Amino acid sequence: MELGLRNASVLVTGGSRGIGLAIAHAFAAEGANIAICGRDATALAAAATQLRAHGGQVLAVQADLLHPDACTDLVAQTVQAFGGLRVLVNNASASVDTTPAALETATDSQLAARFTGKVMPAMRCTRAAIPALRASGAGRILCIGGSSARAIFRTGELPGAGSGLPQGLGNAALANFARHLAEELAPDRITVNTIHPHLTRTDRHADRVTRLAASRNVSPATIEAEIAAQFPLGRVVEPADIAPLVLLLASPLAAAITGQSIAIDGGALRSINY
Ligand SMILES: NC(=O)c1ccc[n+]([C@@H]2O[C@H](COP(=O)([O-])OP(=O)(O)OC[C@H]3O[C@@H](n4cnc5c(N)ncnc54)[C@H](OP(=O)(O)O)[C@@H]3O)[C@@H](O)[C@H]2O)c1
Repeated sequence: MELGLRNASVLVTGGSRGIGLAIAHAFAAEGANIAICGRDATALAAAATQLRAHGGQVLAVQADLLHPDACTDLVAQTVQAFGGLRVLVNNASASVDTTPAALETATDSQLAARFTGKVMPAMRCTRAAIPALRASGAGRILCIGGSSARAIFRTGELPGAGSGLPQGLGNAALANFARHLAEELAPDRITVNTIHPHLTRTDRHADRVTRLAASRNVSPATIEAEIAAQFPLGRVVEPADIAPLVLLLASPLAAAITGQSIAIDGGALRSINY
């Protein structure tokens, strides 16, 4: 299927590793010009080198999106480098692997971590990107949420250290934001959709498994087997599993799909979302 993304201008926030890098690779392989960002200059440079091998233009911007000006600058640099912007993928997120076990022991900053470290950057980047997305005539905004928007995860149920409350608060807010925005931007033919990955094997996965194994005094292999058993498909989601849906929703073919939230969870979440 021809996705119509050749020469499209695409910004993937936090595209220097993990899910964002897999998404950036997929766009670059379709012939898109791709901008990525991150705080770690070494990881960013390595990602840019990999992405350039696809042959398109690559812009790598060292930026900390916790700072409002960095979000505006990132979008401005992308628009200037590629002469516009057609696709924004809000993917970057502060890591919140250390989370409270219960509300009574949670600090305000722990509870707000996903909101300040993910939702605020996404909203700021989106606000800055709207004029260029509108000018493209077929703007696309994709928000990478998380399955914690749809289900609760208590301490020990996922291989992080603590509950999924901060992630859930942030991802639910992100989905709400995206749904609002879908309606606001529909007259401009900009679509806005959210993708909710479940536990995905990024660089952080091995650390999480090791920590959980140590805390329960079992082997990492035991934890890996338990995790795989949570997925009816029998395996953890991989970063490359996320990218194809992002590409489809970003393509001109998906002009009538907006305001949707779609999970990529290997069947792990048992809720039914009509
Ligand atoms: N992996 C999972 O199991 C999973 C599950 C559900 C949802 N998700 C969601 O999927 C998205 C990607 O997750 P991931 O696992 O791929 O994360 P990751 O491997 O930790 O990568 C995060 C990316 O965001 C960048 N980033 C983080 N904070 C930033 C900041 N303040 N300013 C600029 N860039 C920043 C990172 O680069 P630097 O650190 O160098 O800044 C990196 O490029 C996130 O929104 C996450 O919530 C992941």
